[in-house]
Order: sequence, then C-alpha cells, then structure tokens
Amino acid sequence: MTTSIIILAAGQGKRMNSALPKVLQPLAGRPLLRHVIEGSRAVGADDICVVYGHGGDEVRAVFEGENIRWALQAEQLGTGHAVQQAMAGTPDGNRVLVLYGDVPLLRPQTLIRLFSSCGHDEVGVLTVDMDDAFGYGRIIREDGAVIKSIEERDATDAEKAITEANTGVMCAPAARLKNWLGRLSNNNSQGEYYLTDVLAMAVADGVVVHGVMTDNQAEVMGVNDKKQLADAERALQRRLVDALMEEGVTFADPARVDIRGELKCGRDVFIDVNAVFEGSVILGDNTKVESNNLVRDSNIGASNIIHSNCHIEGATTGNACEIGPFSRLRPGAELANNVKIGNFVEVKKSTIADGSKVNHLTYIGDAVIGSGVNIGAGTITCNYDGANKHQTIIGDGVFIGSGVELVAPVEIGKGATIGAGSTISKSAPEGKLTLGRARQVTVPGWKPPIKKK
Ligand code: UD1
Ligand code: CA
Repeated sequence: MTTSIIILAAGQGKRMNSALPKVLQPLAGRPLLRHVIEGSRAVGADDICVVYGHGGDEVRAVFEGENIRWALQAEQLGTGHAVQQAMAGTPDGNRVLVLYGDVPLLRPQTLIRLFSSCGHDEVGVLTVDMDDAFGYGRIIREDGAVIKSIEERDATDAEKAITEANTGVMCAPAARLKNWLGRLSNNNSQGEYYLTDVLAMAVADGVVVHGVMTDNQAEVMGVNDKKQLADAERALQRRLVDALMEEGVTFADPARVDIRGELKCGRDVFIDVNAVFEGSVILGDNTKVESNNLVRDSNIGASNIIHSNCHIEGATTGNACEIGPFSRLRPGAELANNVKIGNFVEVKKSTIADGSKVNHLTYIGDAVIGSGVNIGAGTITCNYDGANKHQTIIGDGVFIGSGVELVAPVEIGKGATIGAGSTISKSAPEGKLTLGRARQVTVPGWKPPIKKK
C-alpha cells in the first residue's frame, strides 16, 4: 500500500516564547522537523507532506530542494483542519500516517508496528501509558476497544484520571479520512477542529480503531516549551550515547556529552565529560578525548589524545597525534602521524607531516610543514599582507627557534635552523643557520626613568 505521511508543522508554538518557529527549534543541533522527516524516510514513506503556516517561509527555506510536498494552512484552526489542507494532494487509495512536527523522537520500529497492526481499511492510533498524562489527549476505551480520544481541556475528572494518552500519531485510509475531516466540528473548549475526533467518527462508521501502545514514553514526547525541549534533548542524547556504548565506546559520564550530528567511533575510544561533537565526526581506534572539547566536522585518526579545552573544526589527523590542552585546529588543518600540537597553538589550512611538533603559543596558517620539524614557542606565520594570503613552506627536519616571524611567501629549506627572534622574509637555504634580527646592543649612558611628582 502506498503511504503518505502528513507532518503537522503549522503551529506557532506560543509556549516556546521564541522568534524561531517551534519546528525549527534545534534538537541535537538539528531542527525538530528534520528529525520527524528523517523518521518518515526511515519507514519508507512514498510521499511526505508537511503542513506549514506560522513562520512558513523560514520553515520551507530550511528544507529547500528536498523531496517534500508542502501544504499551506494559512490559519491554524486545529490539527484536523491542518490534516485537511494536505488531503487535496493525497490520492484516495493511499494510507495516511499523521505525525506531528513537535514529536521528534518516534522510532521507526514503532511506526512500523502501528502500520502492521492495521488492515487496509482500518484506523490505528499510537497510545502511551504515562506516569503523568497532563496536557495530553486521553484514550477512552470500552470493553478494551478504543472508542474516542478526549482533550485534557474537554475531559471530565474521571477522564483526566486515565493514564493512557493519545500520542497524536494516527494512520487511516485516505478516502475515509477525507470524509471524516469534512465532518469535523469545532464545538470544543478551544474552538478548534481536532484531528483526534476522527477516532469516534471511525467507530460510529463501524471501522475498527486499533490502539497500539508503546511503553517508551520518551519517543512520544511532545515538545511544546523550552523545558520539554531540554527533556527531549537529554532523552535523544542518551539514546545516541547508548548506541555508541553498545559499540564499545567508553564515556566517563553518559549524561555529560553532546552529539549534534553524527559521531562514528572505532574500538576502545574514551570520551571524558563535556565533549561536544557537531556535524560529522570520526574518532579512530583507541583515541581519547579529554574533558571540555568541541570537535566539529573532523576526522581524527587512531590513538590520538585530545587533551582538555580544544576547539577543533574541519580538521584531519593521522594516527598517534597529541593535541592540546588549549589548541585550536581550524578548517583545513591536516596533521599526519605522530604530530604534536600544544597549548595556545592555532593551525589553519596547513598540512603538517609525520612527527612534527608545534608545542606552544603559535599561529600556523597557509603552511606546508615537512616531517620531523620543530616549531619553537611563539612562532607566527605572517600569512596575510592585508589583502591576500600567502604560503609558508617548511622542509623536513627544520628547527625554528622561538619567537620567529615567517613573512610569507617564504620557504625554509630542509634541515635548516632559524635562530630565535628572527623575522624571516626571504627564503632560507637547506641545512644552514639563518638569523634575521638586529644585533644586540647595550646603550651607554642610559638612565632609568624617574616618576614625576
Ligand atoms: C495534540 C493532540 C493531543 C495529543 C498531543 C500529543 C489534538 C487536538 N490534540 O495536542 O490529543 O495528546 O498532541 O503531543 O490533536 N498544528 C498545526 N495546525 C494547527 C494546530 C496544530 O499544524 O492548526 C500542529 C502543531 O504545529 C504541532 C501539532 O500540530 O506540531 C500538534 O499541535 P499542538 O497544538 O501542539 O497539539 P497538542 O495540544 O499538543
Ligand atoms: Ca504538542
């Protein structure tokens, strides 16, 4: 059967108190709606329709160019009205699954369980038994069978005591759903057309309604305010960390790590507290990430140690590199094997070959550094002339003394030594000692200044 997934995302999300539309609020670094769309693709939806309204242009722009059908709900008159806006483009023979843009943690296996429990012409609703169902619609059953769903605000005290909540997720045959939606009324406490009223209509038409229950409260969590957003964030982070722990990754504390994107780890990786991974990050076998690190879109090789307090973005490292503490690797930093980058060192768009060391207080930008090089403390590649960037090339085995300025474009030949405190603006030959500094003088007759009264 062909499946259309309709995702409701038109609401303003007043309770977020934010200029950003609710479905664009970030969860694990990506918009809420992105999670729902990816979940939809994972169950093999043939057609994904997003009902948009509030903040519509902003929402659409984020998903520009993707294979998504968009249905405008100009006025937010309720969840039933929202689904109706998507029905015009939904073929009658399809099965419809309704998801909510603010319910981001549903697992594909749960959706598949909902589908497979419903026959071609039947209705399914995903329910959950909650410790505290406050705010959710409640599922009313008679002799075990679902007969309707009632909103918190329209419920009697006896109904409010029911702990089986409506997750809002529902599947139904398209043709019948169109008919029911056309007959909805807004005669309720919010004056809205409720999708949830469809359940009672189905029952009245003699259509079987399957209430399929999940025992995973986190996956059906609705995200309506910042507190729930934070709860969802922790639930998702725990899920991501659990999956990595199953693969053998060790976390000092699974509650104190954040993965905002995709983290792939080799064997025996150790991650200490307050490590944040963004975008696509790979950590090789036996690599250790100490506390307080940000690693974004980087590929870290095997047996690396990333000491505390580093900021690493768009970098690649080989094996057995040591980085930090307090290092910054910027986009295009490419380290080979056994490279050491120490404290207060910034590396940008530069390659550093095997065994080279840049240990203290240094800026390396637009450089090509050979193997076995030692860069002294306080060295700066002066790569920018105010208009253009220029390259510094340093041969294998070079020793650069402390406090050297390398004014690019400049090349240091293999095995050369540059004396401390030099300003090097012309290329230095292989194997020689080159100095570029004023001769030291002691000024005769100099007297220390005296403080004025
Ligand atoms: C809804 C359900 C409730 C369920 C809960 C689960 C209804 C009437 N109630 O309540 O039974 O327990 O979800 O999380 O369906 N939206 C639109 N257009 C509208 C109104 C809403 O697109 O006119 C979208 C919202 O953007 C949101 C979703 O539908 O993504 C749910 O709307 P919301 O107002 O949050 O419903 P709840 O009160 O949470
Ligand atoms: Ca909601």
